[in-house]
Amino acid sequence: MPKPPVTGKENLIKKFNEFEFYGEKPSFKGLISGLSIYFTDEFKNKIEKAKEWINSDKKIAIDVGFRRGYFIRTFAWNFPFYNIIGLEVDGKWIARLEKHPLPPNILLVKSDVRIFLPLVIPNQRISLIVFNFPDPWWKDKHKERKRLFDFPLINEIKRVLAIGGIVHISTDVETFYKYIKNNFLSESGFKLLHKNESPIANYYSHRRWHTAKEGRQIFDLVFKKL
Ligand SMILES: C[S@@+](CC[C@H](N)C(=O)[O-])C[C@H]1O[C@@H](n2cnc3c(N)ncnc32)[C@H](O)[C@@H]1O
Repeated sequence: MPKPPVTGKENLIKKFNEFEFYGEKPSFKGLISGLSIYFTDEFKNKIEKAKEWINSDKKIAIDVGFRRGYFIRTFAWNFPFYNIIGLEVDGKWIARLEKHPLPPNILLVKSDVRIFLPLVIPNQRISLIVFNFPDPWWKDKHKERKRLFDFPLINEIKRVLAIGGIVHISTDVETFYKYIKNNFLSESGFKLLHKNESPIANYYSHRRWHTAKEGRQIFDLVFKKL
């Protein structure tokens, strides 16, 4: 039987799998953007900067899906003792934010969080991870593919958080909130805190501001790594 031809995607996956990973090799099912972005000079340069930060003594926070960037900028100005890595799969938001001067403690990287954590972050290096209103992908057909906070991601969050580190997740979708809460609580190693115990309890993202303005309920989950 002749072997089926190797497609561009298979080739990329093969090359990508040759990278060294700190965490579990990610599954490529349902990744939002293509793998080719991880081979660009832009990605390599950003990773070099991230590694400089990782090798420094300063605390690191990660904001996943920063979009318009209201939260990440306010956070960076108010928390100069953190270096903050913003992850976004939609490169348009990075280009928009980088047009204007940014605080020196912000680094914006085009990446899916499910790739970035295992590829770039060593064990126990992160003090805070923020997911402000992650896309819920709550329909059943997304369950296997796109929905965040399945066990591989939760385990990666656990691996990269320092002891006492915090993950703060907010959403306006109650079913998604329950799904995330159950998954975290069925993993050992996290303690659920009151939302006011989060270091970012008083900081608004664009979506939080909008949801609050419409008078809709916001569900916050704050977990501490034990
Ligand atoms: C609903 S928006 C929330 C934006 C912002 N955090 C806020 O609260 O206003 C979700 C953002 O997460 C980004 N995103 C979705 N999945 C992602 C992933 N796996 N890794 C990184 N960013 C992701 C999307 O491109 C989008 O900009």
